[in-house]
Amino acid sequence: MLIGAGQVSRELAPVWKHAGHDILQVVSRTEASARPLGEALGCPWTTKLTEAAGALADAQVVVVAVTDGLIAEVAEGISAMVSPTCVMVHLSGATPLDALPGPRAVVWPVRSFNPKAGNVPLEGTPTVIEASDASALRVAQTLAQAWQGDVAEASGTQRAAAHLAAVMADNYANHMLAEAQEVLDQRNLPKTLLRNLVLGLTQGGLNGDARERQTGPAKRGDEATLERHRALLPQDMQDVYDALAAHIAKRHHP
Ligand SMILES: NC(=O)c1ccc[n+]([C@@H]2O[C@H](COP(=O)([O-])OP(=O)(O)OC[C@H]3O[C@@H](n4cnc5c(N)ncnc54)[C@H](OP(=O)(O)O)[C@@H]3O)[C@@H](O)[C@H]2O)c1
Repeated sequence: MLIGAGQVSRELAPVWKHAGHDILQVVSRTEASARPLGEALGCPWTTKLTEAAGALADAQVVVVAVTDGLIAEVAEGISAMVSPTCVMVHLSGATPLDALPGPRAVVWPVRSFNPKAGNVPLEGTPTVIEASDASALRVAQTLAQAWQGDVAEASGTQRAAAHLAAVMADNYANHMLAEAQEVLDQRNLPKTLLRNLVLGLTQGGLNGDARERQTGPAKRGDEATLERHRALLPQDMQDVYDALAAHIAKRHHP
């Protein structure tokens, strides 16, 4: 049983189906998302939880794949409709396990599901799981197995830290890349000029030795270059650049 037919559900639900899981019904807020996913999976779909009462009562597992801020509210709304042994699952790195009632688990694939995120395969994706008890843990392991997830069982505190790390590594690094591309674009230079640098950056991430591959004027303490860079940056990026340069210097010359 699947609640929410967003980016993640659209990619994971067919994989679960392919792995042999019987998806009883899809519920989502609007027909525009519920219908195509239900049709693709060959199962009933609805926008009303009341119309899903039968499937909810029969479900062994309910995956609550809605926006993080709505997980607790949606789960609370269906808690009286599911069987006491039904395991509720959410897919969020940032949301506490306790947002769900009863037997519960988290299955968080540590990957971006943004269609613009590139062709990073789902198969083998590192996946953080957490569960309230042994049977919910087995459900989480089975769901992650559908994409041969590289599973790490974590406590809520560990998962919160892992989510912070993911945001820093993906969202913040991507923001810096976007700003760097803008610097190039504004001077009519191709954004792809950074291609091999970006490959090196990701290689450092894959090898786990990002700290060792740090280079650049901030690490060298090259104040003249830092000053020239500041002059080229828009005002609102100068503070960010200074803060990062100071932090790099502190880490490498404590
Ligand atoms: N996106 C990622 O890269 C990523 C990565 C790992 C984990 N996750 C986690 O995966 C979960 C889903 O994220 P997402 O990116 O798929 O979100 P999303 O694209 O924003 O989709 C959320 C879906 O929930 C539906 N929805 C919202 N309120 C609802 C309600 N009250 N009842 C039923 N359906 C409702 C929305 O319906 P409508 O389409 O009709 O508005 C939408 O289809 C989140 O917990 C997120 O943290 C996301």
